[in-house]
Amino acid sequence: PAALDLEQLRASIRTVPDFPKPGIQFRDITTLLSEPAALRTSVSLLADMARDQGATVIAGMEARGFIFGAAVAIHAGLGFVPIRKPGKLPVETIGVDYALEYGTDRLELDPSALAPGARVALVDDLIATGGTALAAAELVKLTGAHVAGALFVVDLPDLGGSTRLRDADIPVHSLVSFD
Ligand code: PRP
Ligand code: ADE
Repeated sequence: PAALDLEQLRASIRTVPDFPKPGIQFRDITTLLSEPAALRTSVSLLADMARDQGATVIAGMEARGFIFGAAVAIHAGLGFVPIRKPGKLPVETIGVDYALEYGTDRLELDPSALAPGARVALVDDLIATGGTALAAAELVKLTGAHVAGALFVVDLPDLGGSTRLRDADIPVHSLVSFD
């Protein structure tokens, strides 16, 4: 399929009011994923950004970050490391707790999956408060690897996450944003 422009990509994302809680405008990528041109365009642009950041490996956050992260890794010719919700990895992990726009959660990583000296691009569908991405960055740093940057399809700038990442000296790129 032909590439979409960013306005078309933005239009492929569905907004669902009051999910999962009243007052939350949920930006749902289901509609983007089912449109071949939108899926291909987002993966291709994120892979270009990962290359520009000098990434040597992609890490994605469960669950929506797995969809884009593994595809970006393949497109960029890199490997993929899963950053998982608690209790899923069968080995000794490192973990970090964090706050979400609508709750709290924890992320875990198998530190042996990242070589020291690795340059990691974090990939997720969306950044809101940045809690997820900052927790993932903390996990990567605990292994001794370097965070090359963080890449998102969607930024919700009003929630401040992209600013928090930049304040932590993490380069941030996203494809579209919603106020
Ligand atoms: C969503 C989204 C990001 C995170 C962004 O994941 O996929 O990972 O929230 O929010 P933040 O910037 O405020 O941390 P969610 O935790 O809902 O899990 P899911 O991917 O399993 O749906
Ligand atoms: N994750 C955190 N906030 C979100 C939102 N408003 N829409 C979709 N995913 C989210």
